[in-house]
Amino acid sequence: MFVDFHSHILPGIDDGARDLEMSLEMMSMLEKQGVGILVATPHFYPHKQGLDDFLRIRQNSLDLLNGSRREGMPVIIPAAEVYIEHDVQNLNLRPLCFEGTDYLLVELPYSAYESWFIDEVYNLCINQSLTPIFAHLDRYITIYNQDAINEIIDFDDAVIQVNYRALFESKLRKAVIKWIKDGHTVVFGSDCHNVGTRQPDDLKAVKSVIQSKLGKDWLNQYERFSLEIIKGKQYPIA
Ligand SMILES: [Fe+2]
Repeated sequence: MFVDFHSHILPGIDDGARDLEMSLEMMSMLEKQGVGILVATPHFYPHKQGLDDFLRIRQNSLDLLNGSRREGMPVIIPAAEVYIEHDVQNLNLRPLCFEGTDYLLVELPYSAYESWFIDEVYNLCINQSLTPIFAHLDRYITIYNQDAINEIIDFDDAVIQVNYRALFESKLRKAVIKWIKDGHTVVFGSDCHNVGTRQPDDLKAVKSVIQSKLGKDWLNQYERFSLEIIKGKQYPIA
């Protein structure tokens, strides 16, 4: 069973699926590709919205989608994509973790790297015993310098989430494969937003790239440890 670690599937909550109809269309696409578990990670911007409001809106949206979800469609695990900003470390963000786990998907700012980015993540995780999953780190390769990328991938116990699309661009693919070969914990996600420009990618092609670069055994092992992460097991694995 394949896990998609990053999606904007919930209807009407952020810049993802605009309504239930689009969510269901995306769910059908994901089902056809063989995604069994889908982590729903709507954007949470702490300066824009209170946590209680966000949780209430997310629950309503999840209930709406689950009410129309057909058997065979991916099972949805509620979570969030938390934007890192000053003082986010002082919020109680445990309710935004992948449900039932200590894993929190964090989105770093899209500007030249500053050391407070990682300090906020560090203090947030220490204060609340959380483990960060860095959202689509591939997207920062061209924004942050190499020292900053190294600091992030060396963060204790961190999980690196990579968007599928990175596997189809040679510079990004090389970096991602190196992270994996160097022993970092990498998980993949579609980061799908809609049925147009950011629709769920072709999972078959994704698997085929992974298999060609890392082998079938690695892919099988990856599918197993993805499920364990979803159940809350801590990594990296040896
Ligand atoms: Fe996202």
